[in-house]
Amino acid sequence: MLNIKIEKTTTPKEKPKKGDKLGFGHIFTDHMFVMNYTEGKGWHDARIVPFSNISLSPAAMVYHYGQEMFEGMKAYKGEDGKAYLFRPDMNAKRTNNTNDRLCIPRIPEDDFVQAVNAVVDVDRDWIPEGEGESLYIRPFIIATDEFLGVAPSKTYLFMIILSPSGAYYASGLAPVGIWIEDEYVRAVKGGMGFAKTGGNYAASLIAQVKAHDDGYSQVLWLDGVERKYIEEVGAMNIVFKINGKIVTPMLNGSILPGVTRDSVIKMCKHLGYEVEERKISVDELVSAAKSGELEEVFGTGTAAVISPVGKLRYKDDVMVIGDGNIGPVSQKLYDTLTGIQWGKIDDPMGWRVEVK
Ligand code: COI
Repeated sequence: MLNIKIEKTTTPKEKPKKGDKLGFGHIFTDHMFVMNYTEGKGWHDARIVPFSNISLSPAAMVYHYGQEMFEGMKAYKGEDGKAYLFRPDMNAKRTNNTNDRLCIPRIPEDDFVQAVNAVVDVDRDWIPEGEGESLYIRPFIIATDEFLGVAPSKTYLFMIILSPSGAYYASGLAPVGIWIEDEYVRAVKGGMGFAKTGGNYAASLIAQVKAHDDGYSQVLWLDGVERKYIEEVGAMNIVFKINGKIVTPMLNGSILPGVTRDSVIKMCKHLGYEVEERKISVDELVSAAKSGELEEVFGTGTAAVISPVGKLRYKDDVMVIGDGNIGPVSQKLYDTLTGIQWGKIDDPMGWRVEVK
């Protein structure tokens, strides 16, 4: 159990007003959580302080070799006025899986959840209440040793910042176009693909720029060895409805194990759908699209929630999915997931956790 010191700001910022367009990740709250790690001492000095810039040596290791990790979570304002988190234990577990891969010291899961809870509690008045809006939570850890040798750092900073946000995509729930990338790859088995670390996202930018230039919102990655099997999209996992079945790439070491992905699989099974987690080749997808068996495509992610995909491009094939509207399964999953998150419907799985 952490002993968290709290220093409240004396100069609170103006909060966004109801009806203001929040976008995603532009606005930050009054406070942040900070905790240090020092080899031999462990994690120490847990504190909540006013949100501010931090000062690091230009030689801090994170700037040079990218030893860092991050998480993505949200806090929701329920209809009952209470604040809720969604499956925070999953983010705590994934943090340690990422940390293990990046040689970053583990954080006890209960401490991680306690820290998230505490900082959201302090800034609970920042949770926006508009349709589809929430408080995006960004925990992250950076290596802070002042040293240019390639080795794990002996000191780290764990921080949590908070950002009132709306939809991740400017288009909201309108279907997005996705570019299936056949030149660059994101990750390979044995690499860092399953870990939530900045390097994976840095590696994705070049293809994202290319896709944007062609009018597509995001990139769908193929496996790094054969460039044949579907992996994930830049900011979300991907799910298909093919011939009545829900199909999604199985976790193979190079795909991020999304919390929303896991929740969607469980919800689909609960709703009676047959769900397959397996290898899906891009050829299978193209022929399912051509035969009309590719009924729905959607992305899943904390930021992206359920994001319908209306168009997939692979080389010379442009596959149009559905009629330009969100498909019925995607809509049902969106309503169920957000209904649980905002406390509008029952939570049979016990995923909603009140912030206290
Ligand atoms: C999230 O969905 O929380 C993520 O971390 C994706 C991010 C790249 C926006």
